[in-house]
Amino acid sequence: MCGIVGYVGPKSVESVLLVGLTRLEYRGYDSAGIAVIDKGDLEIRKEKGKIKDLEKLLHANPVEGSIGIGHTRWATHGEPDRVNAHPHADTRRKIAVVHNGIVENYQKFKAELTKRGHVFHSETDTEVIPHILEDLLSQGKTMAQAMQHCVDHLEGRYAFVAIYEREPDRLYFARNGSPLVYGRGHKEGFLASDVSAIIPAAREQVQIENNQWGWVTRDTLHLHNGTGTELPVTPVKIELKLAHLDKGDFDHYMLKEIYEQPDMLRRIIQARMTDDGKVEFPESVLTNEYQGRISRILITSAGTSWHAGMIGKIYLENFAKIATEVDISSEFRYRNPIAEGDTMVIAISQSGETADTLAGIHEAKAKFCRVLSFVNNTTSTIARESDAIIDLRAGPEIGVASTKAYTAQVLNLLLYAIHLAGIKWLISKEDRQIMFQEIRKVPQKIDEILSRAHILKEWAQDFRETKDFVFLGRHYNHPTALEGALKLKEISYIHASGYAGGEFKHGPIALITEEVPVVCIAPQSEVYEKMFSNIQEVKARKGKIIAIHSEGDEQTPAAADYSFAIPQAPDYLNPLLAVIPLQLLAYYTAIERGCEPDQPRNLAKSVTVE
Ligand code: AGP
Repeated sequence: MCGIVGYVGPKSVESVLLVGLTRLEYRGYDSAGIAVIDKGDLEIRKEKGKIKDLEKLLHANPVEGSIGIGHTRWATHGEPDRVNAHPHADTRRKIAVVHNGIVENYQKFKAELTKRGHVFHSETDTEVIPHILEDLLSQGKTMAQAMQHCVDHLEGRYAFVAIYEREPDRLYFARNGSPLVYGRGHKEGFLASDVSAIIPAAREQVQIENNQWGWVTRDTLHLHNGTGTELPVTPVKIELKLAHLDKGDFDHYMLKEIYEQPDMLRRIIQARMTDDGKVEFPESVLTNEYQGRISRILITSAGTSWHAGMIGKIYLENFAKIATEVDISSEFRYRNPIAEGDTMVIAISQSGETADTLAGIHEAKAKFCRVLSFVNNTTSTIARESDAIIDLRAGPEIGVASTKAYTAQVLNLLLYAIHLAGIKWLISKEDRQIMFQEIRKVPQKIDEILSRAHILKEWAQDFRETKDFVFLGRHYNHPTALEGALKLKEISYIHASGYAGGEFKHGPIALITEEVPVVCIAPQSEVYEKMFSNIQEVKARKGKIIAIHSEGDEQTPAAADYSFAIPQAPDYLNPLLAVIPLQLLAYYTAIERGCEPDQPRNLAKSVTVE
């Protein structure tokens, strides 16, 4: 999951590439580099670390030109150091390449080319690409023929862009599996991992599909399919606006996105819930006839989206009465699930580029299942490879730790379950009206929770040195416990584990000491008494209790060391409320520990490798 960008046009290519890479830094930030054709010569500058480290290098040793490529890396093969940083060049340093993905058969090429005198410097898979191109050019092939050869023979998932010193007006590219988009501006052309890197100069886009390759000039895109046939291109207007990418008054995207949740949920409610008690998904092409006969649903998703899928399972079984199973995407593909004709697969993915989830979709299609994807990026690979999509409508989520996309997933899954129940006449109009009234109160309740964010900020000061956390929840809030643990561990680097409350006594209770805070998610619900027993079990072992409880509950705060009240709500809505203090706890604890919430170490926003 690296970020790649390319530019050809009248502007200073160095600044265009640096701006683009900064926008793509959420995709990986182990190292960064650019290659430019500067007065006829290929110049490469690359550095370990973040974009700001590359900027320092360029300040001391700038480049000029009007065509170039850039890369920000999440290391797959080889240490994240300067040698392994992209761009990579051929032996004679006439060709430079930036790449996102994995060339799975690179060792074969590397061995053959080494025998033929090619000199490799890095441990990366990527470095074989410029050498393959160089080798073919030396045999008299054109660059276009060499690119076609790559599409024919490279295996794995890739999106790469190449520049060639002798063709200083062309950005060559090829795509199979990793995202790549062409952007057109005024007499300038762009290539990027996503459009956020190239707006506002790029005003129109073309998503590059699998097995497509070609080149970009200042004026246009030359696109070919896997057999070399030139394809017509129909650019579409880019909707994303620069304002979406601005942190505003917030110190981090993650905090901004936490605070965006009430208004985001209001927009989803407004867009999907009609006054006469219906739920609408205009973007889904699935017919009511088909949806009415779905007998089983398999959900495949990863990370936070998997937690949302766990809640979606409860919604779909309780409200739509459809047997539903949830799998971690990377496991789904090995399970060989039994799938009959009326089994539908739901994929959940904020980025729409998660390789494991995409593999799950391919598995589903191999079993002739329809695939409905809940995605935040409706032009993403997962969106394009699904039979139908539901747009999360969360707006761009930049912070690596998913927050607003999660609550958007949970709400959209709830509304979809109500939609299916409506098709099957399973919820009376009166009951739906009551549910709608409760759902419409959620944004205001989250606003109220956010108004007490300072409580979590104060708590975080006590956890600066904490080494371990346990999170416990039951039923609707078992996934909340997993999500709270994931948020904390991925941005504060504290080891945190989430468990079903009922599992606590089957092993995890052995972890409890006075040094281990235990977050107990215990709102008023049918499982409250059982959760209170968990609290007593922790207390009996002198564990530190952090309780998330409903307003009006006096018993729980009396038993806890830290307690945070959330507004009362029907239990099926508690996951939307209880996760908010956990998001804030993770954020403020990360800040207390001097961590960078938007770019946690070793992580990237979209995991496009398996
Ligand atoms: C969430 O905070 C994590 N960054 C990660 O687990 C993420 O949810 C997971 O990689 C799935 O991403 P997706 O929703 O884009 O498929």
